[in-house]
Amino acid sequence: MNSTTSFAAMPDEQGYFGAYGGQYVPPELKQVMDDINSAYEEIRQMPEFQQELASLFADYVGRPSPIFHARRLSEQLGGAQILLKREDLNHTGAHKINHCLGEALLAKHMGKKKVIAETGAGQHGVALATACALVGIPCEIHMGQVDIEKEHPNVVKMKILGCDLIPVTRGTATLKDAVDSAFEEYLKNPQDFIYAIGSVVGPHPFPKMVRDFQSIIGNEAREQCLNKYKRLPDVVTACVGGGSNAIGMFTAFLNDSQVRLVGVEPAGEGLDTDRHAATLTMGKPGVIHGMACYVLADEEGNPDPVHSIASGLDYPGIGPQHSYLKDLGRVQYDSVTDKETLDAFMRLSRVEGIIPALESAHAVAWAIRSAPTLQPHQQILVNLSGRGDKDVDYVAGLLGL
Ligand SMILES: Cc1ncc(COP(=O)(O)O)c(C=O)c1O
Repeated sequence: MNSTTSFAAMPDEQGYFGAYGGQYVPPELKQVMDDINSAYEEIRQMPEFQQELASLFADYVGRPSPIFHARRLSEQLGGAQILLKREDLNHTGAHKINHCLGEALLAKHMGKKKVIAETGAGQHGVALATACALVGIPCEIHMGQVDIEKEHPNVVKMKILGCDLIPVTRGTATLKDAVDSAFEEYLKNPQDFIYAIGSVVGPHPFPKMVRDFQSIIGNEAREQCLNKYKRLPDVVTACVGGGSNAIGMFTAFLNDSQVRLVGVEPAGEGLDTDRHAATLTMGKPGVIHGMACYVLADEEGNPDPVHSIASGLDYPGIGPQHSYLKDLGRVQYDSVTDKETLDAFMRLSRVEGIIPALESAHAVAWAIRSAPTLQPHQQILVNLSGRGDKDVDYVAGLLGL
């Protein structure tokens, strides 16, 4: 981590963040990825595109999302003040809509005939189906059977929004298998289809593009903190699945060396078991889904079956930029268990009247654990990446409510 420009210039022309990223794809796909990169670089220089995106963010998504001071929770914990960036209030209930609108507009600009994607918790699927309905492009979403059963409200929403929902039963029937399945469909006609990846993962240019669309979160939050509190927060934290909400939040703060950045991974049933998805904490460098990054894999490099209580976090890979930021030490990656997450889910609901997504509850759990170690004049800004409507039946089942 050197100068301001080292972060701003990432990735390099080949899509590398240090040793991570790149395009680990068959040669015929490389050209397709380069075309997407060129189209993206072209469109993002166009004032009409930026204006269209800005007006959709304001009038359709409801941005800027507010920052809420969780006073009662902070008082109970007796340490740092907890601030919540309310991405849960966005149209469709999570941060995913930020990059889906960008990806759908890009697909339209490139004249693509179908948008394909995977989804874990269903948030990316709902957001993409929404964006495709708005822009007027057919959309096909691949989802693991396990997640289909767990995230029923989002499954119904995707169908109502008019997308083709493809159940995936192979492997563990969760997020990684959904990515494999969606990718196979995409390979049938990459000229006419576009794979709208749901996080800052996959081959270049997706980690860059999704990050750029998500950077609105941190740009807004930084300005809101300066306006409202006349200072930057001491700590900024976010949950990490593929890493899109976290990088969207962290990007604006990367050069503020006094601000501690913490990504929170799912420790599932414990890091000492094989039932977790803490890729950066327990994994090692490898290749998955077209990119070099940290991976949870066996000796041959085959991805491990992973687990998290949150469907959107149980992924054995991680965005290449996070892999790089971990090695640099600019972002710390910690983890919380399913149990801590469930406790945080219930506590935020009962103390602040906000039901968080199980994914976001990981970041809340980390803040609950960490606030008492800090002073009351200090602040922890939590990216509340999504709302928990999709999770209420699942949690009610777990807790017998
Ligand atoms: C609400 C919410 N937060 C976080 C995530 C994890 O994704 P990412 O790490 O890309 O933000 C998901 C994924 O489904 C999600 O639905």
